[in-house]
Amino acid sequence: MKIEIVTKRLEDVTADALLVGLHVGETKLPERLARLDRAAQGQLKRVLDAEKFSAKAGQVTHAHADGRRIVVAGLGPRAETTPEVLRRAAAAGVRRARDLGARTVAAEVLGDRLTARQRAHAVIEGAMLGTYQFDRYKREKAEKVVSELRLVEPDARRAREAAEGMRRGESFALATSFARDLINAPANELHPTDLARAATELTKESRLAVQVFEKAECKKMGMGAFLGVAAGSEQPPKFIHVTYQPSGRPPAGRKRKKVVLIGKGITFDSGGLDLKPPDGMLRMKYDMAGAAAVLGIMRALPALKPAVEVHGLIAATENMPSGSAIRPGDILRAMNGTTIEIGNTDAEGRLTLADGLCYANTNIQPDEIIDMATLTGACVIALGQLCSGLMANNQALANRLLKAADAAGERLWQLPLIDEYRENLKSEVADINNVGPRGGGAITAGLFLKEFAGKTPWAHLDIAGPAFSEKDLPLAPKGATGYAVRTILTYLGD
Ligand code: BES
Ligand code: MN
Ligand code: ZN
Repeated sequence: MKIEIVTKRLEDVTADALLVGLHVGETKLPERLARLDRAAQGQLKRVLDAEKFSAKAGQVTHAHADGRRIVVAGLGPRAETTPEVLRRAAAAGVRRARDLGARTVAAEVLGDRLTARQRAHAVIEGAMLGTYQFDRYKREKAEKVVSELRLVEPDARRAREAAEGMRRGESFALATSFARDLINAPANELHPTDLARAATELTKESRLAVQVFEKAECKKMGMGAFLGVAAGSEQPPKFIHVTYQPSGRPPAGRKRKKVVLIGKGITFDSGGLDLKPPDGMLRMKYDMAGAAAVLGIMRALPALKPAVEVHGLIAATENMPSGSAIRPGDILRAMNGTTIEIGNTDAEGRLTLADGLCYANTNIQPDEIIDMATLTGACVIALGQLCSGLMANNQALANRLLKAADAAGERLWQLPLIDEYRENLKSEVADINNVGPRGGGAITAGLFLKEFAGKTPWAHLDIAGPAFSEKDLPLAPKGATGYAVRTILTYLGD
């Protein structure tokens, strides 16, 4: 979608469709819409009156005037305007315009309670994410597509502010769509090798560099936990390390912050010898959603230019059953020497993340580590499809992430890392078992990871619920959502 700012009045903009917003209680049209209505011979007001359009958040209607569609999105009560209201209004409004056959849409910078920058960001993000489609494997491609979006702001000063927000919104949405495409790709088309290639392609962009470690190199580094998971697969595992270096120097006397992001990159999770039942296995191409989020985030950094050094790590592999697969009862040795008894081969994500955490602490020594992983079904039981679980060994970091998620419109809720549950991971024969009892499964998985985070401030996002959706959402069709990309970009950049 091509996007640009136009500094004109609404009624003077050319486009197949115009998208305007209306708040609850604006029964008398505000001046800018009254002018548009006059240009449309009163057609807008007639439709709104006839339909008793109340402008609740989420409502959309439209009128036709002079071969042009005028789409009206309800924004709810003015006092309750949030970026999320605007994202969803833009998404629903642009979808309506698209379904009415519009290829070019001119949209107001919806709302007036937030800054022009915030509003433009929200509108672009909503418009782009709300019209995302994945038809790569279909003979019949989507026919109705909005290819151009013009953001209308008559005031030149506000237009400059809006342009800034528009570019950020575009970066956020492109990064999210990039992650969605990777996640939606089927597991037979997206092997660890393909994730490594996707990471390498990102580095055509300046300020990003990549290292891909092959199996032999991972073995030399002692990544026995990661390679244990990979042992059952015919596909070669890849350990991927992408680096973003900010430009310029840090202010005198200050060190630049170093953040490590780790994404779970299981390109397919069959469960291994502890094979999943068909229902549980069906969606397991999504088990690399954390990795895809990390790549989406890295991709956006050169444009967003945060003054933070960011490292993205992915231990990419399949989890497959075979004669060479690890068995229940096997003992693996992680990079830091910790021995792990395999209680269940389906608890593979934490094994790959363990070596990711060790690698971060040994080779990068960051100020903080954030991992994102479709880690446990238990987290979905606890928080449902729309909310991720947050666990951390550092409350200040957790608080900053909660704030970022809220601003980004992604739901995140903290779960406690209850020390007493650590004994549930006790092993008779090794330093730790990779599974505990059913109850509190998201937390035991968090406690397992905590062992490998060491003293580094660390936070863990269990994104098993919101990484994908079984039904259409306001900002995403069924399938991959790209969850975590916008939260982390907000965290790094705002
Ligand atoms: N990838 C799954 C977690 C998952 C489940 C993600 C459902 C999305 C939806 C993970 O590798 C897994 O299999 N976890 C097991 C852990 C158990 C064996 C301790 C689970 O949640 O059942
Ligand atoms: Mn599993
Ligand atoms: Zn898994």
